[in-house]
Amino acid sequence: MLLESVSIQNFRNYKSLDINFNSRLTFFIGENGEGKTNFLESIQMLSTLKSFRDNSDDEILGWSKDTFYIGANVLRDNVRQKLELGYTKKESKKKKIKVNGDEVSKKIEFIGNLVTVVFSPLDLKIIDGGPAERRRLLDSILSMINKNYHINILEYNNILKHRNTLLKNKVSSIKEFIPWEQMLVQRGNIVMEEREALVEFLREKFKTNLFDLSGKKDDFEIAYIPNIKDKNKYMELLNSKRETDLRLGYTSIGPHRDDLFIGKEKRDITEFGSQGQKRSTVISIRTAQFQYIKNKINDTPILLIDDVIRELDIKRREYFVNLLLGSGQAFFTTTDLEGIKDYIGDLKEKIQVFMVKSGEMEEVSIESL
Ligand SMILES: Nc1ncnc2c1ncn2[C@@H]1O[C@H](COP(=O)(O)OP(=O)(O)O)[C@@H](O)[C@H]1O
Ligand SMILES: [Mg+2]
Repeated sequence: MLLESVSIQNFRNYKSLDINFNSRLTFFIGENGEGKTNFLESIQMLSTLKSFRDNSDDEILGWSKDTFYIGANVLRDNVRQKLELGYTKKESKKKKIKVNGDEVSKKIEFIGNLVTVVFSPLDLKIIDGGPAERRRLLDSILSMINKNYHINILEYNNILKHRNTLLKNKVSSIKEFIPWEQMLVQRGNIVMEEREALVEFLREKFKTNLFDLSGKKDDFEIAYIPNIKDKNKYMELLNSKRETDLRLGYTSIGPHRDDLFIGKEKRDITEFGSQGQKRSTVISIRTAQFQYIKNKINDTPILLIDDVIRELDIKRREYFVNLLLGSGQAFFTTTDLEGIKDYIGDLKEKIQVFMVKSGEMEEVSIESL
């Protein structure tokens, strides 16, 4: 997959920007607060339609503006697609999405046209954000490349809401619960099966990635911890928990309580991990995510790597840059090229460098740095 060009308007601190890419490795260099992350965010938004920084669309909208626009040309299997996202603050339908000029009515139909993997300092929330963040990680990986999963998880959450409403309203007739519970079990089983298969793939890759990245020092594990241990007993469990759930006012069992273990010998990394180990761990997870998606879609997702290089010591940078060189296309932000220049020396002609300042970009030659 190749991102050929990007145009943005009124997106954060960018008023208007059009750039073309003709290389696989692109670096954005600039001081803090100039717009490097904003630019990666705009690409990522075309991919998932939601900011990885969890900001609302109004927060992303350039200050005192009413509309923002992101457009890109993506080349995939020799087919070029134009992807566009427009946002208008004042309209009832705020977001408009288009593929090759034709409006797409469902977000789910749009997502998956541009596949990205983001590496960001915010990824530490996978470690520190508890089970909710870890479930979110699994669901975001699956949803990006698997429409059926995406639909299924949305349905699961809706059905769960219905059951919780019944519980909150203290509905006592079992008859009212049964149809919802049957649907819940059906969708829930798919959620569990897909998450299990995903983690099965990620496990081995993660282990190898971390082992390499840490110079063979860290030997941690990830494991899927389903809330329902025996799928055959799911319906039975819902039945036997109904009384308790009525008292609680919510559904106490199911994949919405799943967890992903990250650690060593039953101890979670939050209990013992140093800052450096946590960083290497999330980078290894993201790398495994990249490998998983690449394997599933038989194409390379686009890497958006925000400020990650500075978090790594020299050895780890070398490993990381090697990973990049084997990837399809990568966009990199950094405040300087210190420590990376050595590795990319041989690839000069394949690298593009942009200096970022106050929401504007200027392309420079790598020799000039
Ligand atoms: N909605 C917005 N409209 C205009 N400017 C914004 C908006 N949101 C953030 N900014 C500005 O963007 C800059 C931060 O950009 P960012 O890409 O995070 O910086 P960095 O280069 O350090 O990654 C800040 O100067 C901030 O004031
Ligand atoms: Mg930044």
